[in-house]
Amino acid sequence: MAKRLLEISALDVRYGDARVLFDVDLHVEEGTIVALVGANGAGKSTLLRAVSGLAGATRGEIAFRGCSIRGVAPQEIVALGISHVPEGRGLFAQMTVLENLELGAYPGKQRAHMRESLGRTYAMFPRLRERSHQRAGSLSGGEQQMLAIGRAMMANPALLILDEPSLGLSPIVVRAMFELVRTLNAQGVTILLVEQNIHQALQLADRAYVLQTGRVVMQGSARALLDDPAIRKAYIGSLG
Ligand SMILES: Nc1ncnc2c1ncn2[C@@H]1O[C@H](COP(=O)(O)OP(=O)(O)OP(=O)(O)O)[C@@H](O)[C@H]1O
Ligand SMILES: [Mg+2]
Repeated sequence: MAKRLLEISALDVRYGDARVLFDVDLHVEEGTIVALVGANGAGKSTLLRAVSGLAGATRGEIAFRGCSIRGVAPQEIVALGISHVPEGRGLFAQMTVLENLELGAYPGKQRAHMRESLGRTYAMFPRLRERSHQRAGSLSGGEQQMLAIGRAMMANPALLILDEPSLGLSPIVVRAMFELVRTLNAQGVTILLVEQNIHQALQLADRAYVLQTGRVVMQGSARALLDDPAIRKAYIGSLG
């Protein structure tokens, strides 16, 4: 059996009195792409934030490479090998492309390898090298998403977490973005992906989970979910 890079067990998350995730079990095997889908407000971003150490009060277990990371500080989680591209990208619009990329290399260990990381990221995204002194806010939507992913890659993660990377992009750019995710995965990066483009996400992923009001209601091979009549009716019919 493939190694479980990430393993979440019986995870509960609450914000104050509001419970958002209930008893969630989810795992990501090394080298795979796992998609997490579900309606608005289901708790998808909360789950990703819990993995990155950014969510509210959590109970349960989150293990990365077999070691617990629950309660570990976000920057230490990055240093362990998990990078998170947040919903809305989280770029600093007034800063240049280069300055945004440098921030991705923040953890001390990676900072020493800044030039190497930058070289690797620019090789992956030649467009970012061309625009390195342009303000992030002046990039096109697709370029901004590329920068957000490039910034996450600066920390040389084993697990890349992407929260709705296709949001606000035109269909052609969405296709390019999915292609990029496929390429990163082929280079050895394990991916946990939240997507509204459920059809495309299920075509890309190896396995998938459906979250509904804070609970996992379906899981399995992406192929099986893609063919599942309930999924097609609930998500794909309406969302294309
Ligand atoms: N910081 C917070 N404080 C209080 N409640 C929050 C907070 N963040 C999220 N919530 C609530 O938790 C629930 C899940 O939100 P979350 O952002 O995880 O959903 P989502 O599945 O990512 O939705 P979307 O598809 O709209 O991005 C929502 O009801 C939301 O209002
Ligand atoms: Mg969200």
